[in-house]
Amino acid sequence: MSRTEWWRSAAIYQVYVRSFADGNGDGTGDLAGVRARLPYLAELGVDALWFTPWYLSPLADGGYDVADYRTIDPAFGTLAEAEALLAEARALGLRTIVDIVPNHVSDQHPWFKAALAAGPGSPEQELFHFRPPSAEPPNDWVSEFGGVPWSRTESGQWYLHLFTPEQPDLNWNHPKVRQEHEEVLRFWFERGAAGVRIDSAALLAKADGLPDMPADGGPHPFHDRPELHGIYRTWRRLAEEYDAVLIGEIWLPDPERFARYLRPDELHTAFNFDFLARPWDAAELRESIAMTLAAHAPVGAPATWVLANHDVTRTVTRYGRAEDTGFAFARKRSGVPTDLDLGTRRARAAALLSLALPGSVYLYQGEELGLPEAEIPPERVQDPMHARSGGVDPGRDGCRVPLPWRTDGDGPSWLPRPAGWERYAAERQSGDADSMLSLYRTALRLRRAFRDAGGLRWLPMEAPHVLSFARTVPDGGGTVLCVVNFGPPEVALPAHRELLLASGPLTPSGGLPQDTAVWLRA
Ligand code: NOJ
Repeated sequence: MSRTEWWRSAAIYQVYVRSFADGNGDGTGDLAGVRARLPYLAELGVDALWFTPWYLSPLADGGYDVADYRTIDPAFGTLAEAEALLAEARALGLRTIVDIVPNHVSDQHPWFKAALAAGPGSPEQELFHFRPPSAEPPNDWVSEFGGVPWSRTESGQWYLHLFTPEQPDLNWNHPKVRQEHEEVLRFWFERGAAGVRIDSAALLAKADGLPDMPADGGPHPFHDRPELHGIYRTWRRLAEEYDAVLIGEIWLPDPERFARYLRPDELHTAFNFDFLARPWDAAELRESIAMTLAAHAPVGAPATWVLANHDVTRTVTRYGRAEDTGFAFARKRSGVPTDLDLGTRRARAAALLSLALPGSVYLYQGEELGLPEAEIPPERVQDPMHARSGGVDPGRDGCRVPLPWRTDGDGPSWLPRPAGWERYAAERQSGDADSMLSLYRTALRLRRAFRDAGGLRWLPMEAPHVLSFARTVPDGGGTVLCVVNFGPPEVALPAHRELLLASGPLTPSGGLPQDTAVWLRA
């Protein structure tokens, strides 16, 4: 394969395997299901697929508790099927990104089982963070999922887990931990993976001695540690051997610190969660876009645009609420009043906005179908966030419900599909020119013509409730304008030669109504 920088402007589709498509009818998505739907993904017009962890896992955290990186979970299929999938996807022009979870492993991983068996002081325990028995936990850290990030072994020892007790943290000061991950990267690159998404990428390194949180705002003991940059420089050299890309899951509010991970010898790109976290508001989103582009420019990395993933409330629901209840731990709520028509109008406009911006863009499965967040009956919830919040937070299952494919229903599913979801079925939307699916298909096709244009130029016509910008393709390739009206007043379209695409109907006088976006050829 030739050396290209495809990732700078790619559209990447996130496949949550367990809920994408069910090939054997047992209610759990699997690789056979994905393989059968590859033509659907190619027709959608994305460039690459990112698979959330598909490895052997007890599924204590939806697969982010990996027991073996070189084995596909039998619920999903086999390694041979994964290899076939990669090849079939590539033949359809789709690259594959796999998920790597370096901060922790499953408590069923052979290393952790060996550490428990070998006991205190053993070399096996040096791969993790064990501490001797004591009345109080060894430090005052708080788990990313809430509560104390320390649990006890049967002998009373403590071990660290920034997420659930079933996800012990690895000790990244240990050469064996580093070497193993380099080998796992090679394992998947040699099988044709075009890159990796790195889970919790800013958490792996811990301050020596695991000190308490600093009282004076000093360096954080486990977020954004300086040691991480050396790890990613090593990974970058390895990735370059395979022309593969490194994509970081990095939640950091400071854009300058975020961009340090994207220096030319570190990660290629990282998810832009600031954009995702902003409300549907022109000033907020403009600020986020401007800040994002300004932060990326000095390091020469492309921005990324993300509206949804498997951890956050689905876009049409988020934008259909007066106030977003957020996606930080224990902040989601059930039963929040939601206007799905409003949310859908905004999500359609947001799709055109994000797909017009310079950089790469991520779609989460079901976003192209306009799926809302589902409310899961508490007794069916599987996400550990629910129980860890004392049942206050419904957890993340509401965005993980298996996709509706068929107009006449899809059979059993491990999380219940809400009544009436057939109306979102891909089969039904496929033939409807006004559907969300048709909007995404058309937008992704049109985007190919201008996605490699340079940066954006804000248009001067702006009123405070409007975002509008131009992307000009060099060498006479033309200019595309994107105009988004957050309203309420309608907006007159700027001078143009052709209306390329609109997220909803224009007003009778040809104006752009509230919560609507257009792409124009200037
Ligand atoms: C981030 C993943 O996206 C999330 O689903 C997971 O629970 C945590 N990292 C822990 O691996």
